[in-house]
Amino acid sequence: MEYSEKVMDHFMNPRNVGEIPNADGVGQVGNAKCGDIMKVFLKIDNDIIVDAKFQTFGCGAAVATSSMATELVRGKTVQEALQVTNRVVMEALDGLPPVKVHCSCLAEEALHAALWDYAEKKHMVIDGLKKPKADIHE
Ligand code: FES
Repeated sequence: MEYSEKVMDHFMNPRNVGEIPNADGVGQVGNAKCGDIMKVFLKIDNDIIVDAKFQTFGCGAAVATSSMATELVRGKTVQEALQVTNRVVMEALDGLPPVKVHCSCLAEEALHAALWDYAEKKHMVIDGLKKPKADIHE
């Protein structure tokens, strides 16, 4: 199995690891099959994601995709962040081996879970955001 240089870089030197105290949105999603867990923290000010951090208990691709996902959503509006799908994250990492695609889905779901939490706390609805699952089965 071959990993791109970018995947290796984000695995070896993950960006934005940690938690945000008093985060505006927190989302945690697990994958029931591999057992990996990802937690995303967002600081949102005036509809802009001013900070994003993550904690991932999981494989190298899970670490790399959460690192890249948090990098990509920083500075974006909530609506723009919804466009950061698992495909966008994978492309930014120059691809993932097919058996590792589910790791990028975990990053997307955890991001959506954090946005969902933000929307619930603010009593608002984010257009196009579906209620995320607590566990992925794939
Ligand atoms: Fe399951 Fe990577 S092996 S998230």
